[in-house]
Amino acid sequence: MSGPGTSGPLSGRRVVVGVTGGIAAYKAALLVRALLADGADVEVVMSRGARAFIGPVTFEGLTGRPVRSEVWEDVPDGTHVTLGRAADAIVVYPATAHTLARLAVGLADDLLTTTALAHDGPLVLAPAMHSEMWAHPATAANIAVLRERGATVVGPATGPLMGGDAGVGRVVDPDEVLTVLRAFVGADDAGMISVDTGAAPLAGLTLLVTAGGTREAIDPVRFLGNRSSGRMGFAIAEAAAAQGAAVVLVTAPSELPTPTGVRRIDVVSARDMDAAVRAHESDADAVVMAAAVADFRPAEALPGKWRRTDGPPQLQLVANPDILAGVVARRGARPRPVVVGFAAQTGDLEASAGEKLAAKGVEVLVANDVAAPGIGFEHDENAVLILHRDGRRHEVPRSSKRVVAEAVLAALVAHLPGSA
Ligand code: PMT
Repeated sequence: MSGPGTSGPLSGRRVVVGVTGGIAAYKAALLVRALLADGADVEVVMSRGARAFIGPVTFEGLTGRPVRSEVWEDVPDGTHVTLGRAADAIVVYPATAHTLARLAVGLADDLLTTTALAHDGPLVLAPAMHSEMWAHPATAANIAVLRERGATVVGPATGPLMGGDAGVGRVVDPDEVLTVLRAFVGADDAGMISVDTGAAPLAGLTLLVTAGGTREAIDPVRFLGNRSSGRMGFAIAEAAAAQGAAVVLVTAPSELPTPTGVRRIDVVSARDMDAAVRAHESDADAVVMAAAVADFRPAEALPGKWRRTDGPPQLQLVANPDILAGVVARRGARPRPVVVGFAAQTGDLEASAGEKLAAKGVEVLVANDVAAPGIGFEHDENAVLILHRDGRRHEVPRSSKRVVAEAVLAALVAHLPGSA
């Protein structure tokens, strides 16, 4: 393959974009444009259904190369296998229920499916369909099969759907797919390109995840707290469960619904969270501490409500346990659980995150700038710097917390015993 790619994070990487027949097919043009801007070498393959929604000329104009759909178009070139063999990654965007089923079964009835069968690298799927179709057990089973084989499923998102409907089933924005691809096909410290072979395989593993902001009682109605909504930790729990892990989610008070398949333990204070983590850490292959834990608490919670007429209370604070440090200390030299800490930082992320990584003794530290607008506490999006104990680093630009969660899990998997 060759193409009009420029230099960028995906410079020289060969990406096949499979476009299938949904209303969101028009958004694939934006994805292709973004991939080209990232330097990728892009080849578009359309399903027959996709051609009912958008013309191949759009993609031919963008990529400067023909767009094919059928296996008999280039028989002497063996395109039905050469495309998949040569690709560094395949993205199916949007991925209809029909194509997910074809991929799960291993059908080879068009160029996209034969290309997928001839490919052993990352396969990224961005489902798009009506909510009922997404919720149907047949689709859920196909998704489970594809994930088990290493496919990465991004989305679907929630929002307006075709025909005036709304709900889950909307294709994710091209940026989210781009972030996942950058995570899989990234540059290492020496500037060499390395390709991860797919999604983090968490089947058979147990993850303990913390989320939310602890509350430290002042009196029966007031507490010391923070702005954590739980979104980041819940996204990690949801993504890990979707990748087949058994997930225990220890959460400080949060309005968020429990992600499907996740065991939720509700706690209030840092000491409650510490007790819940201690109770479950020995079963865990990995612990991810996304919670915002209060470092201090009032020495004593007042038994009755403090009244205005009592004057300003004099709060004496004492230190809470450092839950993360406790997990690392009790694990000692054992290989599990792998420990991932978060760092809520302001200012120079790189320097302070590096210090925290060393101080906390974790395998992976995920730093976010909680003073930056639109990310961090309470927002649906985040941007993080992921530092590994062995010096590797990876930046995830502003993306949905689900995409950040996938990147955190990919980092974690690299430290599981037996991983290369
Ligand atoms: O919940 P959201 O609204 O989605 O917001 C997400 C988030 C900003 C809370 C999340 O991305 C995040 O940064 N979580 C960590 C917040 C934090 O407490 O950071 P810290 O730098 O103070 O703590 C470092 C690490 O030690 C964290 O993993 C923390 O969970 C842990 N810790 C901290 C204090 C303590 N007493 N015990 C701990 O285990």
